Amino acid sequence: MLTGEHVVLRPLEPGDADTFHRWHNDRDVVRWLAFDYDESLAQIRARFAERQVNTYSKVVLGVETRVTRQLIGAATLRDATPETARAEVDFYLGEKDQWGRGYGTDAMRTLCRYGFDAMRLHSIALWVVADNDAAVRVYEKVGFRHDGRHRDAFRGQGRWHDMILMSLLEGELR
Ligand SMILES: CC(C)(COP(=O)(O)OP(=O)(O)OC[C@H]1O[C@@H](n2cnc3c(N)ncnc32)[C@H](O)[C@@H]1OP(=O)(O)O)[C@@H](O)C(=O)NCCC(=O)NCCS
Repeated sequence: MLTGEHVVLRPLEPGDADTFHRWHNDRDVVRWLAFDYDESLAQIRARFAERQVNTYSKVVLGVETRVTRQLIGAATLRDATPETARAEVDFYLGEKDQWGRGYGTDAMRTLCRYGFDAMRLHSIALWVVADNDAAVRVYEKVGFRHDGRHRDAFRGQGRWHDMILMSLLEGELR
């Protein structure tokens, strides 16, 4: 378990499946997220029951509030190799009542600190839809910089949006 100032990050449990199913069916939550085809509750429960253990190349963690221990989101560090010392992040808070309270910033900070300190990564990257202002703001607060722009890379709300590639190098975490 990784402890931040306001959140803890912990491995996922089979019992988390129903919460994820609810999040994935909430339009406000998935608005800026790229998902594959919809999963039924039975499919997501089966996937969680067989979930692979966390490894260097894929670390999947649930985000809980530190005080109440409510599961509010998920954070993944993926595709790391010791040779490249880089990884990509996928991140969201599914519990929208908890947005805007600093949990997202603290969770990203905690995840990246783990990536640099424990996994000895040199760089962490992510893609975010350019119009997702709150997410871009969170990543900038943590220290991520804008590396580049992929034009019309995301389709949502009936139109195309650019995506931004952002990265954080060791020593840049704020
Ligand atoms: C984006 C998300 C991670 C942010 O988490 P959060 O806990 O709400 O973020 P925080 O409270 O830590 O910080 C939010 C920051 O964004 C700012 N913000 C919020 N809405 C904003 C908006 N519409 N425009 C600009 N800034 C905005 C806040 O003011 C705050 O910055 P500040 O501290 O400088 O005032 C979360 O809302 C979320 O997961 N949303 C749905 C899924 C998603 O978009 N995930 C990211 C995919 S890359």
